[in-house]
Amino acid sequence: MASNGKYVVIDGNELSFEDGETVLQAAARADIEIPTLCWDPRLSSAGACRMCLVEVEGSRLMQPACSFKATPGMVVRTQTPKVDRNRRFILSLHLADTIADREVAEDNNPSKLHALAEDYGTAGEWTPVVQQRQGRPSDTNPFIEFRPDRCIACSLCTRYCDQVEAVSAITLTARGAHTTISTADSKTLTDSTCELCGGCVDVCPTGAMTEKPALAYGKPERELEKVRSTCNFCGVGCQVDLNVDRDANRVVKVTSPPPGTTLNDGNLCVKGRFANDFIHHTDRLTVPLVRDDDGSFRETTWDDALDRTVAGLKGVAERHGDDSLAFVSSSRCTGEENYLVQKMARAAFRTHNVHQCAAT
Ligand code: SF4
Ligand code: SF4
Ligand code: FES
Repeated sequence: MASNGKYVVIDGNELSFEDGETVLQAAARADIEIPTLCWDPRLSSAGACRMCLVEVEGSRLMQPACSFKATPGMVVRTQTPKVDRNRRFILSLHLADTIADREVAEDNNPSKLHALAEDYGTAGEWTPVVQQRQGRPSDTNPFIEFRPDRCIACSLCTRYCDQVEAVSAITLTARGAHTTISTADSKTLTDSTCELCGGCVDVCPTGAMTEKPALAYGKPERELEKVRSTCNFCGVGCQVDLNVDRDANRVVKVTSPPPGTTLNDGNLCVKGRFANDFIHHTDRLTVPLVRDDDGSFRETTWDDALDRTVAGLKGVAERHGDDSLAFVSSSRCTGEENYLVQKMARAAFRTHNVHQCAAT
C-alpha cells in the first residue's frame, strides 16, 4: 500500500495519488497511457471528447479518466476489449464530423485526432456528418483562421482563451450540430478582446484553428524541421521551435514546445508566435558594416568589425581610463548573453560600469 494510505489500482498497479487528482493524473505517474483529445494539463477538464473512457469497478458506465477523481481503493482498467471498442467508436465518430483524410486534414497543423486514429484504429469509415457549423469568413485578423469543417467542438481553444490567456475572446456558441466557435457578435478577432497569442491554434487537436501565414505558405508542418531557439522579443526567455523549410531555407512559422517541457509551458505571446517575418526581411542587416573615412558604411568581415570595435574601446580606455567605458546590455538577450556582457566589461575592460535595460 502507498505510504500516504491513498491508492488506486490501475491495470493491476497500486498507485498513490494526491487529493483531487484524476485517474488520468494517477495513471500518468506510472506511464500508463490513456488517450485524450480534449484534455490539456493547463486547463480544467471538460469531459467533452469521451476518448479517455476507462472501466471503473462498481460503475455501470465507463468514466472519463481526465475528470473522474481518484478515490481510495478504486480499481480501474484502461485496457479491456470494452475500452478499446469505445476508443475506436469515438475516433470514427469524430472523424465523421471532420475531414477524415489525414493528408488533407494536416495541410498545415498536425492533427492529434488523426494520429490517434492511426494508433488505436477506428470502427470503420462512417458516412460524414453534414456540416452545420458556422465559420467567420469575414474575420480579417492577420494571423488566425477558424475552419468550422474541421472542428470537433472539444472546447480546448475556448478554455485556453479563458483560463490561460484570460481574455475570453472566443466561445462555444449555438447548440447541437450547430455548435461552433465564435466571438461576441461574430466580430473579427482584432475587434474582440483577443490578444492574438495563438494558443487556440496550438491546442486545437484537428487543425480547425490554424495560422493564416503558414497556411498561405502551403507546406504542412510535418514537412518542416523544428529548430529549438530562444525568443528574442523580451527577457522572459520563452523557448520556441522555429519550423524551417530546409528546401527554401526559410522559417515558415514559430510553434511552442509542448506544455511542461520548457519555462513558457507551451505558451507564447503574439510577438513570439507570429512576429517572425523580420527574419527574412530584405532590409535586415546580415553582414557587419563599418564606416569608411568619408563616413559612409561598407560591408566587412566579422573579424574586421570586431577588431575595430576592440581597438576603439581600448583606445578610449587608454586615453581616459577604464571607467570611461560603460556597457549596456539588453533584456532581449538571453541570460547567458547578459552574463557574457558583464564578464567582458569586468574581466576584459576592467570596469564595473555595466547595466541592463530591464534593471531600470
Ligand atoms: S489568439 Fe489567444 S486571445 Fe485570441 S482567441 Fe486565440 S487563445 Fe484567445
Ligand atoms: S477549433 Fe479546435 S480546439 Fe476549438 S473546439 Fe474546435 S476542434 Fe476544439
Ligand atoms: S480527454 Fe477525457 S473526455 Fe476528452
